[in-house]
Amino acid sequence: MSSLLAVLDAVDAQPMAVGLRTRSYQLLGDLTGRTVVDAGCGGGRAVAEMAERGAHAVGVDLDPDMIAVATRRWPAGEFHIGDACELPLATGSVTGYRADKVLHTLDDPALAVAEARRVLAPGGRVVLIGQDWDMIAVDSDEPELTRRLVHAKADSLPSPRVARGYRNLLLDAGFTDPVVEVHTAVFTDEAGLALLHRIAEDRSWLAEQDERLRRNRIFVAIPMFLVAAQR
Ligand SMILES: C[S@@+](CC[C@H](N)C(=O)[O-])C[C@H]1O[C@@H](n2cnc3c(N)ncnc32)[C@H](O)[C@@H]1O
Repeated sequence: MSSLLAVLDAVDAQPMAVGLRTRSYQLLGDLTGRTVVDAGCGGGRAVAEMAERGAHAVGVDLDPDMIAVATRRWPAGEFHIGDACELPLATGSVTGYRADKVLHTLDDPALAVAEARRVLAPGGRVVLIGQDWDMIAVDSDEPELTRRLVHAKADSLPSPRVARGYRNLLLDAGFTDPVVEVHTAVFTDEAGLALLHRIAEDRSWLAEQDERLRRNRIFVAIPMFLVAAQR
């Protein structure tokens, strides 16, 4: 958990990630006085940022250690241990729902989307964000090995290509008026290297990337899919 959190922290601080979160809040609509849930909230940053914008923001995460970190970091926030597929929230009790880099970890993301629909009041807004794990571009002297390593990582995940399916998942669950955006995250620094160390364990491949960082030649690009829709 701690290494995941360290990578999330490094990625979260990137200007592109800040902009992507801001865009997700815009797409949830007016947050003032509204109850919104961040499913799979991790360290809780988005919950704190939505609260700053006037929302009653609730963070839910399956990992008790993540909830402990979130509660320590943001003592004023409301956080619960819980499953995105069985949220500890009443039917129709929220007007905004977001899940950021979460659905790829689920065996059946449609269950989480159905749960989003259950907890949202009519007219409420949903925002899903995440990367397609088959679409990570890494500059490397070994492009074929890179392709194999990226695809092997994708194959290790329960739902690696769910992000390209967000729009269809939402439509299939009865949401309307989907808005689709793709924002490309580009990493040319330590955060990129940290990401690569979570993608692959091949020592010589990583050694090349370590060396690239020393020479200021690391380059990782990840399209981030964002889809918003209406309940
Ligand atoms: C990659 S992290 C993203 C965290 C946060 N949304 C962010 O953008 O920084 C995925 C998070 O989803 C949580 N998670 C995984 N499966 C879950 C589930 N079924 N219900 C709730 N949270 C879950 C993990 O514990 C982890 O905190």
